[in-house]
Amino acid sequence: MPGLTIGDTIPNLEVDTNQGRIKLYDYISDIWTIIFSHPGDFTPVCTTELGIMAAYASKFAERGVKLLGLSCDDVKSHNEWIKDIEAYTPGSKVTYPIIADPNREIIKQLNMVDPDEKDSSGNQLPSRALHIVGPDKKVKLSFLYPASTGRNMDEVVRALDSLLKASKHKVATPANWKQGDPVVISPSVSNDQAKEMFPNGYQTVDLPSKKDYLRFTNV
Ligand code: BEZ
Repeated sequence: MPGLTIGDTIPNLEVDTNQGRIKLYDYISDIWTIIFSHPGDFTPVCTTELGIMAAYASKFAERGVKLLGLSCDDVKSHNEWIKDIEAYTPGSKVTYPIIADPNREIIKQLNMVDPDEKDSSGNQLPSRALHIVGPDKKVKLSFLYPASTGRNMDEVVRALDSLLKASKHKVATPANWKQGDPVVISPSVSNDQAKEMFPNGYQTVDLPSKKDYLRFTNV
């Protein structure tokens, strides 16, 4: 069954979090938002991931991006678990809300179900899904990892920087790009348009095909 994927508008769900009940559209408003799920409270990899998210909260705030976690246990459990997360990552506070999804309804609607992971009662668990949602409430990028693989939050920041760059300029980011590196001009931009759009100029890579499609610039 296909689920929520890039280009789709997320549903305006009303959800319980450890910071109270929220409607997703009210929370997102018109701000880039990262919604990320975890298989369960008091599990080892998830504790490290939520701790790193807390430690990186200022990096996301600098970029004007909000965070919203999800784990399938209830709010009481989340509040207890946060004490462990903060102890594991000294100096970092879990300031972002964490959705509670004890009935596993929200993970289905947000395409965050791990088909292979079940709890001791046979209920499905969330995958390590992460959606970067734009101000228009559409999914711009999704990560989908199994429970066994913790995410690299530097890659989340890098991918976010790429999305933010491409949302402002007609550019894309090449392999292994990082903030500050040159970007490539989108294929839909002609050379004449590129001269106007990028007044600092651009460099075209000379390739055997002689097709001038690999053009680097700095923005
Ligand atoms: C973990 O967070 O460590 C984890 C959670 C569920 C299954 C496997 C690992």
